[in-house]
Amino acid sequence: MPGQASPVPVWSGLAVSESSNTMITLIYAHPYPKHSRTGKALLHAAHGLPGVHVRNLYDLYPDFHIDAKEEQAHLHKAHTIVLQHPLYWYHTPALLSLWFEKVLAYGWAYGHDSQGAITEALKGKRLLWAATAGGEEDAYQAAGYNHFPISQIATPIQQTALFCGMEWLPPHTVFGARKLDDAELLQAAEGYRDRLVAEIQHLTTQHPSAGASDAR
Ligand SMILES: Cc1cc2nc3c(=O)[nH]c(=O)nc-3n(C[C@H](O)[C@H](O)[C@H](O)COP(=O)(O)O)c2cc1C
Repeated sequence: MPGQASPVPVWSGLAVSESSNTMITLIYAHPYPKHSRTGKALLHAAHGLPGVHVRNLYDLYPDFHIDAKEEQAHLHKAHTIVLQHPLYWYHTPALLSLWFEKVLAYGWAYGHDSQGAITEALKGKRLLWAATAGGEEDAYQAAGYNHFPISQIATPIQQTALFCGMEWLPPHTVFGARKLDDAELLQAAEGYRDRLVAEIQHLTTQHPSAGASDAR
């Protein structure tokens, strides 16, 4: 209402002001957002959470010309980075793959700068991989048609995070993502939101100046 302070959102007992600093940078990569159902519902659940800043890669870079410096600046601000995407051929969509190449660059995410000093801009940050998968969970096991558990599918991303000195969090996966009915979709969206809220609560405890100290 005009002239009135906007209400402070309260998520699971956590009060954080809407103007709180970025705690989570959420990188969203869906090549066909208009056709997305599950990814869209999850993203919708994340939108508006205090301290969560969404970077929608296919909206930002339809020509695949990623602004690496801009992306690095957004990662720099966050304590936790979320990578949300549909699983495509057991990996990320192409733009997110390119994002890794361009953004996690030598002399920033790893390696040395021109003075010879070690560069590890992402060291200590937390990485949450959030993937939607068409396959059911029981397909992601040795006896299933996907043969490997999702934890093993995740290893290239996990090792990328570890190489950059990041903390790898237990992945958040929505299985059977093409066949969810409306109730299951709502449950999946709420589960994702709860996971992000738990992460915000964790960060608020670890880094009080990041968010909760702004709470009025
Ligand atoms: C090109 C392509 C590759 C895919 N590869 C996989 C895969 O490797 N594993 C899997 O479980 N699902 C796979 N899928 C299914 C998508 O992951 C699934 O449709 C998506 O997660 C559903 O979310 P959405 O409604 O946001 O699109 C693939 C889909 C497409 C179009």
